[in-house]
Amino acid sequence: MTKPLLKLGTEFVYNPHPVYDELRKQGPIHHVLLPNGLTSWLVVDYQLAREVLADPRIKKGAAALAPITSRLRPGDQYTTVSTDLWEHMLSSDPPDHTRLRRLVTKAFTSRTVEQLHPRIEAIADKLLDEMADKPEIDLIDDYALPIPMTVICELFGVPEADRARFRELSTTMTASSTENAEDQEAAAKSAFYATAAQRGAASIELATYLIGLIAERSKNLGDDLMSQLIMANYEGDKLSDKELIAMLFLILVAGHETTVNLIGNGLYAMLRDRILYEDLTRTPERIPAAIEEFLRHEGPVHLATLRYTAEPVTLAGIDIPAEELVSVSLAAADHDPNQFDDPHHIEIGKAGKTKGGHLAFGHGIHYCVGAPLARLEARIAFEKILARYPNMKIADEVQWRPSTFLRGLQELPTVLD
Ligand code: HEM
Repeated sequence: MTKPLLKLGTEFVYNPHPVYDELRKQGPIHHVLLPNGLTSWLVVDYQLAREVLADPRIKKGAAALAPITSRLRPGDQYTTVSTDLWEHMLSSDPPDHTRLRRLVTKAFTSRTVEQLHPRIEAIADKLLDEMADKPEIDLIDDYALPIPMTVICELFGVPEADRARFRELSTTMTASSTENAEDQEAAAKSAFYATAAQRGAASIELATYLIGLIAERSKNLGDDLMSQLIMANYEGDKLSDKELIAMLFLILVAGHETTVNLIGNGLYAMLRDRILYEDLTRTPERIPAAIEEFLRHEGPVHLATLRYTAEPVTLAGIDIPAEELVSVSLAAADHDPNQFDDPHHIEIGKAGKTKGGHLAFGHGIHYCVGAPLARLEARIAFEKILARYPNMKIADEVQWRPSTFLRGLQELPTVLD
């Protein structure tokens, strides 16, 4: 049985949950045309999302995925991204995935990242000092973004002078495509949209930059993570040149583009709900549980990265041929009423009906490597700002980023008192 194609527009990007509530009533998986121009099978049900994310027949390998996306998005932009950046663990299948992931897991365990605790506190304190005299601040650019950005750049030795450019390149690469925007004129002026040519140029500049960074560090190896990866590269069977560049790319970008949204979306939730804000200010020991609920309620990753069917599969009674795209909506899964009571409402400590918590960090072999670091950064960010500024207020309307992949605010204008 096949299903007709459903077109999802801009409204879906800005306000996805009413669309998901309708779709979920009709079934757990739908054939859709995504706002980014891709035709894909969209999973909106919690249980099916877990199954698909753990299904070895539904794969990720970039080399196989590229021609499929080209076919399913006429005038495809994916292939314009520098191939130097492709071969990372999030676009690999076992056994390559297993080998690549093993090289970095130790660096991101809860115990290892806990060593960064004092440094993250110092970064947050400095940012809070800097905003003290400003009449209005943007909690995204002034706080939520620089915390993870500084941490991940320091971990990999990206010099301070290069970070603004690195940020611009990363924004361009994760931007929505101007070609698919409903209002192309407005999109051309926004930093959150980019053309295929701009994305391609940014990816080449970023790859070239990372090659230079690796060459620089190779002259002076230490016991940091980057040096360890370069050493693994010397033993070529552990990490090829392209894999090394792509590994840095993945961790540097995943290390800040997501956590900014956990901190930003969490602050936005608190600013909209005085009771929650005051509750967490009075009882900061509830912050870790609040973080889990923020992740569930407005997780930074809306759709998991693209997967494809490596063979014909039947999902929830629907036959899907080989070489079709599959998108798992983490946002829809985490608002599935069969799993979470009153799912659109924030409630600290909300538990799932079946075993297994929220899917904001994914599930299965690609489960987020950086989850302990993201949780630590968010905890410190919330603890510090609530202790210092218990009376913040939203100063203006907010706008979501026009992305089907990342769920976060463009800015969060705020007054401190
Ligand atoms: C709140 C912040 C974060 C969220 C919500 C998040 C979410 C995710 C999700 C959903 C995936 C799986 C995607 C998929 O299966 O398609 C993932 C994978 C990954 N994340 Fe994160 N992430 C966050 C922070 C971080 C940080 C701080 C780092 C780096 C230090 C990081 C590094 C990675 C890596 C390397 C992968 C690929 C893992 C693999 O393929 O085995 N993430 N993340």
